[in-house]
Amino acid sequence: MANVEVESLTRVFETRSRRVLALDNVNLEVEKGEVFGLLGPNGAGKTTLIRILTTLLLPTSGRAVVGGFDVVKEAKKVRGIIGFSSSSERVGFDFVTARRNLWFFSQLYGVPKSEADRRIEELASLLEFQDQLDRKLYMLTTGYKQRLNLARALINDPTVVFFDEPTNGMDVFSAKKVRELFVREARVNSRTVFLATHNMFEAEEICDRVAIIDRGRILAVDTPENLKLTLDKPVVMLETDVAGASVGDPRTLDGVVGGTVKLDSESETANIRVILRDEDYLDKVVTLLERRGVKVLGYQRLEPTLEDVFISKVGAGFAERERSLEV
Ligand SMILES: Nc1ncnc2c1ncn2[C@@H]1O[C@H](COP(=O)(O)OP(=O)(O)O)[C@@H](O)[C@H]1O
Ligand SMILES: [Mg+2]
Repeated sequence: MANVEVESLTRVFETRSRRVLALDNVNLEVEKGEVFGLLGPNGAGKTTLIRILTTLLLPTSGRAVVGGFDVVKEAKKVRGIIGFSSSSERVGFDFVTARRNLWFFSQLYGVPKSEADRRIEELASLLEFQDQLDRKLYMLTTGYKQRLNLARALINDPTVVFFDEPTNGMDVFSAKKVRELFVREARVNSRTVFLATHNMFEAEEICDRVAIIDRGRILAVDTPENLKLTLDKPVVMLETDVAGASVGDPRTLDGVVGGTVKLDSESETANIRVILRDEDYLDKVVTLLERRGVKVLGYQRLEPTLEDVFISKVGAGFAERERSLEV
């Protein structure tokens, strides 16, 4: 049974100066016990979708059902069976201990008292902050506050739990712990874990399925493995001298589907990552670059990443896409 069903969902934001189509006819189904990732660059529409699914925002048109309840018509029921946490949002009372904060939220959901105590201990142990439980919130480091926030999202034993950029700004070790927790919650407790992220490694590492989103549109939905398999085009990294920066948009090179250019100012080289229409274009691209005065120092065939899947569909990488959205 699908725990999240999204049908022709559209959301428009109108401000005085512009009209943004934040979600454009989105269709999705997420199953019980699935770790599902919404992957896309900043501005793609991820937070908008999560806010609609968590009843914080109304859709412009279309329908969404979470745990069997309609997010508009049965918003209250949806709120009772979901958990939600966002890394860009601070929640809780500063002058109250972490334990009391969690207890407070558990009581909002009507979790029985003994059960609440047990769950607080369990979540603190899983997220490794037991020794912080009796400290006041304002005393906690950012990392511990983030963990507390994640624990809060799980305190009511939710059927579906939503995390918006959960590991943003976390150190590598904490992020790893948190990702392990998500997988555990899906496997052991059969929760649906719905995750928005612009971190492709995160999506690849823990998601059973990933939806790639750009400018409000879902470009593809599948397992990370299948997404990469369907790419079916060679990904090549060309190392060039700094003049590589003057290549501009790699798509202007014949045979290049899309790519990214990264400068390494220390070694004064540039890495041009390109997806080629097929193998035969490699020589041609090298020749074209050299004709433009860009010296190719070496090249290497790479395993595709989820960002390459994105590039193959959009032509540009996450960073270029984010820059193009800045007004
Ligand atoms: N309250 C709002 N008013 C106007 N525009 C908004 C609002 N919220 C989001 N947007 C716009 O909708 C688009 C999608 O934003 P968002 O869902 O936050 O993307 P993401 O979470 O993927 O970074 C962006 O262009 C953003 O500027
Ligand atoms: Mg966001």
